[in-house]
Amino acid sequence: MRHLITGGEGFIGTNYIRYILKMYPEDEIICVDKLTYAGNYDNLKEFENDGRFTFEQVDICDRKAVYSLFETYSIDCVVNFAAESHVDRSIENPEIFLKTNIIGTEVLLDAVNKYAIKRFHQISTDEVYGDLPLDRPDLKFEEDWGIKTSSPYSASKASADLLCLAYFRTYGTPVTISRCSNNYGPYQFPEKLIPLMIEKAQRNESLPVYGDGKNIRDWLYVEDHCSAIDKIVRLGKIGEIYNIGGNNEKSNIEIVKIILEALKKPESLITFVKDRPGHDRRYAINSGKIQNELGWKPQTDFESGIQQTIEWYKNNPQWIERILNGEYKKIRGVKS
Ligand code: NAD
Ligand code: DAU
Repeated sequence: MRHLITGGEGFIGTNYIRYILKMYPEDEIICVDKLTYAGNYDNLKEFENDGRFTFEQVDICDRKAVYSLFETYSIDCVVNFAAESHVDRSIENPEIFLKTNIIGTEVLLDAVNKYAIKRFHQISTDEVYGDLPLDRPDLKFEEDWGIKTSSPYSASKASADLLCLAYFRTYGTPVTISRCSNNYGPYQFPEKLIPLMIEKAQRNESLPVYGDGKNIRDWLYVEDHCSAIDKIVRLGKIGEIYNIGGNNEKSNIEIVKIILEALKKPESLITFVKDRPGHDRRYAINSGKIQNELGWKPQTDFESGIQQTIEWYKNNPQWIERILNGEYKKIRGVKS
């Protein structure tokens, strides 16, 4: 199978490409990435000379360049990870989120129709469901719930989902959608909670916890997300939405304390800071559908996943260092 993977140099895309190359020796990857601040060419550099891997620096909003990819390569499936993904940045500057996450998805859907591609899988998020109250642990997001977004980021992702479903109904475009909870693991850009806190704790810097720190996320080890996407791409039903979650709810303050303990650092590093505007209180996913219909289940429990993740960041200081000093951008003519 030849996969066109957009956003492949980001956190989850990188892990997915590694997963496919490891699991399917016959498969080939065309990795398409604009290399924004979040895209890191270092992530997959070791595959530069691997005949099964090709990198193309392309913006998914650039219709001509995207069509040219489909003219050049014979593609079996498209998996769209490319997105602006950080909620805080979407609050500061929504416009690029609307461009990449909505227009970019539309361009890809048009290409899928034009070149009669057999599968388009959209990587969406549980944030499209809005949030849940802390005092109703029985409630978990289900696929047939409506859209109820909070941030410009989640609104842009929900718009992309709606476009996918509209293309399915109107043109019969062979789409599937997955909505996943918070991922953690290797190669996550250090602006997101877990890598940021690991990085700051190692440097004995203060750890900024938003609001009261009681907001809850449902954490999933990134490789488990990859295996779920793989199941959907190969076995999922066209036109369907699949929730993916770790069934592992933790408050932000719990996460931060676990990291501090693992790194043997004092809790006095924690600093409560101004809350994120519109901050979603709790996410929790019911992933019964993918478990029952496709036989997927997460393999990594949080205790071992977080230890592996902390070890990875400790053992790869140069990966973080090249991000912090901007060296990671000095590649393939990408301007800082
Ligand atoms: P990320 O920010 O680490 O990576 C995004 C990648 O997309 C980067 O490599 C970036 O260069 C690329 N990109 C951005 N704009 C582009 C454009 N216009 N054209 C081509 N490439 C572009 O994000 P991530 O955490 O890996 O998330 C990947 C996908 O998964 C996103 O769609 C996100 O919404 C979704 N998601 C993430 C999580 C999570 O916990 N990280 C959970 C659920 C869903
Ligand atoms: O739920 C899936 C989503 O998870 C994805 O769609 C997003 O792309 C991904 O970024 C993530 O969104 P969150 O906003 O949940 O992730 P983030 O790591 O930014 O924050 C996690 C929680 O930690 C959130 O409640 C805000 C809080 N936080 C975050 C940062 C960066 C802090 O308290 N301090 C911080 O410095």
